[in-house]
Amino acid sequence: MTMSEPKAPQPKEIDWNNLGFNYMNLPYRYRAYWRDGEWQDTGLTEDANVTISEGSTCLHYGQEVFEGLKAYRCKDGSVNLFRPDQNAKRMQKSCERLMMPKVPTDMFIAALKEVVRANEAYIPPYGSGGTLYLRPYLIGVGGNIGVHPAQEYIFSIFAMPVGNYFKGGLTPTNFVASEYDRAAHKGTGASKVGGNYAASLFPGQIAHDDGFSDCIYLDPIEHKKIEEVGSANFFGITKDGKFVTPKSPSILPSVTKYSLLYLAEHRFGMKTEQGDIYIDQLDHFAEAGACGTAAVISPIGGFKYGDNFHVFYSETEVGPVTRKLYDELTGIQFGDVEAPEGWVEKA
Ligand SMILES: Cc1ncc(COP(=O)(O)O)c(C=O)c1O
Repeated sequence: MTMSEPKAPQPKEIDWNNLGFNYMNLPYRYRAYWRDGEWQDTGLTEDANVTISEGSTCLHYGQEVFEGLKAYRCKDGSVNLFRPDQNAKRMQKSCERLMMPKVPTDMFIAALKEVVRANEAYIPPYGSGGTLYLRPYLIGVGGNIGVHPAQEYIFSIFAMPVGNYFKGGLTPTNFVASEYDRAAHKGTGASKVGGNYAASLFPGQIAHDDGFSDCIYLDPIEHKKIEEVGSANFFGITKDGKFVTPKSPSILPSVTKYSLLYLAEHRFGMKTEQGDIYIDQLDHFAEAGACGTAAVISPIGGFKYGDNFHVFYSETEVGPVTRKLYDELTGIQFGDVEAPEGWVEKA
């Protein structure tokens, strides 16, 4: 028996303004196979299922890396990819950590474009707030039950139209400090590997059950500093206007975070810092948010840690600096604001 997801609805049946963040079985995805030391049999397929040996390393030992980025419909109908080279590079780093073959940047970007063009009818219209989310992943496959790297790999990219990841959008939501760690200090936190997310499922569920958008992880050594959100990096705006974001070897280097650091400094003349954010010094901050491809910029209203509940700017209103950064970032992504050199690639 093959378990198959139903096909996506016809584009004309989709409510583009209320998409959420859910899997959809679109017509096409990209596949490539690593055999005998090279990428082979590359191209699009309509088959949403991946058939692999039961002895595959991805199933038993988590030899899997992935990425997430988006395609944006612009006002003139063209389609933007936002900094896809950065995702290619991050995936290459994740591959080094898990001893997997790298997908060259050119191949990665060409494959993204093939998937975007083939599923073009599913890119949400300009102005709907929706985007086409792209999910590249790479898995170790083949009958290989010992704990060592696989001999063969599959690289694939699928796509789905998405709206907000956190329900609030630009309305603040509340987060809670987790008692758990998602990654060890010198572990795989800086790599985008499935195991980090498996480790985050239980703490994430506890946060949701308690009515929070997600949990925020603290540093795994002392639990005194903010690390990141389960699916996004953290940033704060100090009362004197500095953009601050945590520096730690166990957080994912977010493309969005580095983009905001650049925009804060070069477009808004703000001071920026990658440093420590102690949970007992949150009064220094006027605003805070979660940033990432899926989260975009999601303002953090209240933050619960232990018996404390800290409200940053407001539980109901987005702060002015967060809004300014959001407008600049999304303006660039949707092609309304001039992008820094090399940030936008037409699909
Ligand atoms: C754990 C984690 N941190 C941060 C991010 C944000 O990274 P990016 O801005 O590259 O999407 C993500 C999403 O990819 C993530 O899963």
